[in-house]
Amino acid sequence: MPIDGPAQTPILDSLQNYLAEQVWPFHTPGHKLGKGAHSGLRQVMGAAALSLDLTVVPGIGDLFDKQGPVQQSQQQAAALYGADASYFLVNGTTCGIYAMILATVGPGEKIILPRNIHRSVMGGLILSGAIPVFVGAELDEQLQIAMNTTAEAYERAMELNPDAKAVLLINPTYYGVVGELERVVASAHQRDLMVLVDEAHGPHLHFSPLLPVQAISAGADLVVQSTHKILGSLSQSSILHCRRQRVSLCRLESMLQLVQSSSPNYLLLASLEAAVVQLMEGGAELIGKSVLLASQARERINRIDGLYCLGQDRVGRPGIAGFDPTKLVVTVSGLGIRGNDAAAWLRQQGKVQAELSDVNNVLFLITLADDEASIDQLVNALELLSCRYDGRKRPFAFSGLFLTQGPTSVGLSPREVVFGPRRRVSFDQSAGLVCAETVTSYPPGIPLLFPGEVITPAAIDYCRALLGQGLTILGPEDPTLKTVEVVA
Ligand SMILES: Cc1ncc(COP(=O)(O)O)c(C=O)c1O
Repeated sequence: MPIDGPAQTPILDSLQNYLAEQVWPFHTPGHKLGKGAHSGLRQVMGAAALSLDLTVVPGIGDLFDKQGPVQQSQQQAAALYGADASYFLVNGTTCGIYAMILATVGPGEKIILPRNIHRSVMGGLILSGAIPVFVGAELDEQLQIAMNTTAEAYERAMELNPDAKAVLLINPTYYGVVGELERVVASAHQRDLMVLVDEAHGPHLHFSPLLPVQAISAGADLVVQSTHKILGSLSQSSILHCRRQRVSLCRLESMLQLVQSSSPNYLLLASLEAAVVQLMEGGAELIGKSVLLASQARERINRIDGLYCLGQDRVGRPGIAGFDPTKLVVTVSGLGIRGNDAAAWLRQQGKVQAELSDVNNVLFLITLADDEASIDQLVNALELLSCRYDGRKRPFAFSGLFLTQGPTSVGLSPREVVFGPRRRVSFDQSAGLVCAETVTSYPPGIPLLFPGEVITPAAIDYCRALLGQGLTILGPEDPTLKTVEVVA
């Protein structure tokens, strides 16, 4: 649908109209326009925000109405992004990933996907009963970051699995690394595979020619974006975009109803609408400015002693066909410290909070909210960090990331494993056994072991090393990993 005329705000307008009616509310939420909320909450949130905390009011409607404000607003989003249909999500990209997997692959059907997926993808596989065919991600040994996955690797998996129904890609990764998206989409479509894209970190890509191509423009069939992560909408609000040609909208919508709340928060929906309107009115300028600020920051950071910021110099290596410049991945190992310690120091001493840190790197997101002052604060803090650790300069070495490995799955669906018979064994002695849990390092939330995957010595060593560095493991019932559940 082309965008005709000025941006519309049907959700916000109908919310305001409802409040202007001044009717007595005898409906949910129980706090009734904030009146019944605890005074502490009222004080912090403000009366205006609480009064907008409404859901499914007649006249404003539900997520799945065929007409009305929500539907109009979604159509406007679809037109902006060049999708055939777009759906607002109130449970993050997580529920969009569930829905697109559920709408595409059923029990026992194969889906090809990269090894460095977010744990929400594993959730989608457990729900659907699909069988994952993993493709190894490339690894940057020096930075100890999983890059993207090469087109050759995807194509090999397609050749070896002609019965696969779909392929899933990440565009870009949490660290901003993109692969050969257009080529993989073309190869997949040639073989009649559906293309699903986790674009949690790319809702802004469409608005600057200096950014990598967004997945809908590259021809992908289903794409989920975390609007809340990078743009101006409230946390948990995301959008699922879709191309009609291969997708059954009826099936997709019924799966969305399965994974979405029946009480969608209008504050979240209004914030998605506002984010879309903001982009319609000035997206190119806002995103263009953030790209410029980030690029200037990258140059300045690369001049700081002991620091390195991932950039153009790495493009062309395996698994990195391009990168999103608004993600500043700063490698601190040259200062002789761990990324996690650097992030903690920066919070306390430099008054900046990073998006995430791992053992070697700290990630900072530059968005449309940034300006010269925030960039100065960040660069100055990094300069201070470099001075503080100037004496050490003993490069800190941490290695062992193993997500490059190809498939180590035994062909069971994660769902069969999760609901099947299991036993608990010593983690250190589990090599060769089939893992029955999801073991995730957090952040960045990439599972190191999946239900149905053979546990390797490399995986055991890496998990041990992470725990030794004080990092968090999420997912297993025993987060200390003294023991692990395996398939009985
Ligand atoms: C690559 C990736 N996909 C999906 C998600 C889930 O997104 P959300 O937090 O919006 O549910 C995340 C969250 O960090 C992510 O990093």
